Amino acid sequence: MAGDFTEETAADAVIESFADTPDERLRAVLDSLVRHLHGFVRDVEPTIAEWEQAIAFLTATGQKCSDVRQEFILLSDVLGVSMLVETMNERSADGATQSTVLGPFHVVESPPRELGDTIDLVGDGEPCVVTGRVVSVDGTPLPGAVLDVWQADDKGFYDVQVPEAQPPGNGRGLFTADAEGRFWFRTIVPRYYPIPTDGPVGALLLATRRHPYRPAHIHFIVTADGYRPLTTHIFVAGSEYIDSDAVFAVKKSLIVEFAEAAAEAQRYGRTGRTGPFRRADVQIALQPT
Ligand code: BEZ
Ligand code: FE
Repeated sequence: MAGDFTEETAADAVIESFADTPDERLRAVLDSLVRHLHGFVRDVEPTIAEWEQAIAFLTATGQKCSDVRQEFILLSDVLGVSMLVETMNERSADGATQSTVLGPFHVVESPPRELGDTIDLVGDGEPCVVTGRVVSVDGTPLPGAVLDVWQADDKGFYDVQVPEAQPPGNGRGLFTADAEGRFWFRTIVPRYYPIPTDGPVGALLLATRRHPYRPAHIHFIVTADGYRPLTTHIFVAGSEYIDSDAVFAVKKSLIVEFAEAAAEAQRYGRTGRTGPFRRADVQIALQPT
């Protein structure tokens, strides 16, 4: 019989138990998981009560998950793991637009719209136009690139969160870039908002005195044949929480001025409201596969 399971031999004993795993990658992942997890436990030295509390937290996290709620991803988000994985996976994407987290509100297929259409179906908030171009990393335009966009409204809510106040598809659109890779659509300047806090992740933020807010942003998934799909946001320059995003997703290159553009109001067809009209202009560069 092998020696007793001790603090010193624990990690090796568990790693050895996986030695016959035929999938090499799985074996390597489990090896590292066990080493780090055991190192973490040795570092923290939890009491039995604390271990039970950790199990209860993870159980509640799983129980909060449903078809429309992914509390484990939210946990990954607030621990910075989602962004770490994103950032590591774009190491080789020289010159490409940076990526960020997908987030939980891409829950429905965005409605196809024509270039120049508005995605604001409500009519509140500060009107603006988002213009831009999809190109390859070498600057070649990508005609026919598809842009799936979605955003919160001027009160910080997505359509799916407040079906009584917003029609389905509000703040969402699927656009196809023109023959020069250009796109443009009308919308309103989104507001910052809190991530969902009615679950264990919210309790964690509360216990640690962390705020739950994300700075104002518009989400994009951009695809083009022969290119790596890009999941990203543009962030509204100067937004509250731009320096303390609850999910660590802000990258400087993704912060965009929503500058006043009175002259553009007529050209892009403002939706009848008075007050400032803004324009955000973005270049989106994709990396060949
Ligand atoms: C979002 O931007 O939609 C989001 C991202 C991560 C967590 C929660 C919300
Ligand atoms: Fe969002």
